This record gives sequence, C-alpha cells and structure tokens, in this order.
Amino acid sequence: MASATKPIAISVLLLLFLFTLSVCKSTREEDPTPAPWPHQFHSILFMNYSGSLQIIDLWYDWPNGRNFNIIQDQLGKLLYDLEWNNGTSFFYRLDSTKECRTAHVEVGILRPNWLDGANYLGQRHVNGFLCNVWEKVDFIWYYEDVVTKRPVQWIFYSGREAHVMTFEVGAVLEDANWQAPVYCFEKTDDGNDPKSQFAIPSGYWKDGGVLRGSINDL
Ligand SMILES: *[C@@H]1O[C@H](CO)[C@@H](O)[C@H](O)[C@H]1NC(C)=O
Ligand SMILES: *[C@@H]1O[C@H](CO)[C@@H](O)[C@H](O)[C@H]1NC(C)=O
Repeated sequence: MASATKPIAISVLLLLFLFTLSVCKSTREEDPTPAPWPHQFHSILFMNYSGSLQIIDLWYDWPNGRNFNIIQDQLGKLLYDLEWNNGTSFFYRLDSTKECRTAHVEVGILRPNWLDGANYLGQRHVNGFLCNVWEKVDFIWYYEDVVTKRPVQWIFYSGREAHVMTFEVGAVLEDANWQAPVYCFEKTDDGNDPKSQFAIPSGYWKDGGVLRGSINDL
C-alpha cells in the first residue's frame, strides 16, 4: 500500500505546484491600469519646477473639446492658457497689457484615456498617499491613489512636478469664461500679432503646458 500512496502524493504536489504557478502568472498579467480621466473635472494643481512655484486651475472639459489652464506664478501675473480640440490655443492676460498669443498645433486636447499603454512601476507612498505609479514614454510619471483612483501627482521628464490639491469630478466652468478676449483676434496692418513675443513662463512651455494632447499619440 505504501508504494501506491507515494506517486499519488507526488501527483498532488505537482498539481499544487502547477496551480500556484498559474495563480502567480494570472496576477502578474493583471497589473493595475490608470483610471481614465473623468470627462469633466476641475483641479487645483501645485506646480514646482526646480523651486519655481505655480498654482494652476485646470478645467478639463472633453465633451466640449476644451481645456483651460489658469496659471498663477508665485507673486507674478495670471496667465490664461485656453486650448481647443481643433488645435488652437490662446495664451493671454486679462489686464491692461492686453497680451495675447495664439498657437496652432496639430493635436487637440488630451483624450480621457491618454494614459493607456503606460508602464506599471508598482506602488509608492507619496505626499502621504499610497499610489500606483506608471510611466509613459519616459515623458511622464503618474501617481494615482490606490483606494480612490484619483491622481495625486505627476512628474515630467524635466523634473517639473504637478501635485493635485483638489479634484472635483463633474465640475464645469461656465461658457462665458471660455471666451478669449477681443485683442486675441486683432492684427496689425502687416498681419502680425504685436504681442506675439510675450514670454510664456519657463518650464511651462517646455513640457507642453500642464499636458498637451500630443502625448495621446506617444
Ligand atoms: C520644489 O522642488 C525643489 C527641488 O527641485 C525642492 O528643493 C523644493 O523644496 C520644492 N519646493 C516646494 C515648496 O515644494
Ligand atoms: C478653434 O475653435 C476656437 C473656439 O471655437 C476658435 O476660436 C478657433 O478659431 C478655432 N480654430 C480653428 C483653426 O478653426
């Protein structure tokens, strides 16, 4: 009898081993994926680029094809960066300088699923939150709260950091605020925009604002 139980015991062990293997394999294949962005939200971002600090009011509005970054440099002037999904962006100030710059890019605003295809890097504690971390094309590192699935921060390859201070899902900025001022549409006689040289804060432009739609295609 003893000689018959041995092969059975070995078979059971082998089955257990194979079962464990398959469990390990299937959990490995199920790396978490980032939550898609809500189609409309408002977020206040605390930005730090090598010690240059900004507060950005971000109004993401996918159904209406528009995205707004209202940028406050520390002790500086407000800058409005209004992006349309047709590729037109307006950068302007709402003060007596009447500065406005218009840019046309090939890409629209970020799609809600722009993080698709990001590489999962595991979990980390940041700013007091346990986060899942992903990296996309060596351009951006994205940190999402494990429990609430809200973004906590993202960091650009340049080292510029965005810390998410508020995240109001469903918040929409009223239409009237999406109108670029009239001086954005004025041209001099030679067709040039006289204010086209006004400077966008360093760091901001380099990373493509908060995020530009071009990362959709990366
Ligand atoms: C901003 O980032 C720099 C590193 O680039 C760091 O030394 C500094 O403490 C940060 N400042 C704030 C207010 O987070
Ligand atoms: C894109 O849409 C905005 C807002 O409707 C408009 O002001 C702008 O002229 C449009 N740009 C192009 C290239 O059609």
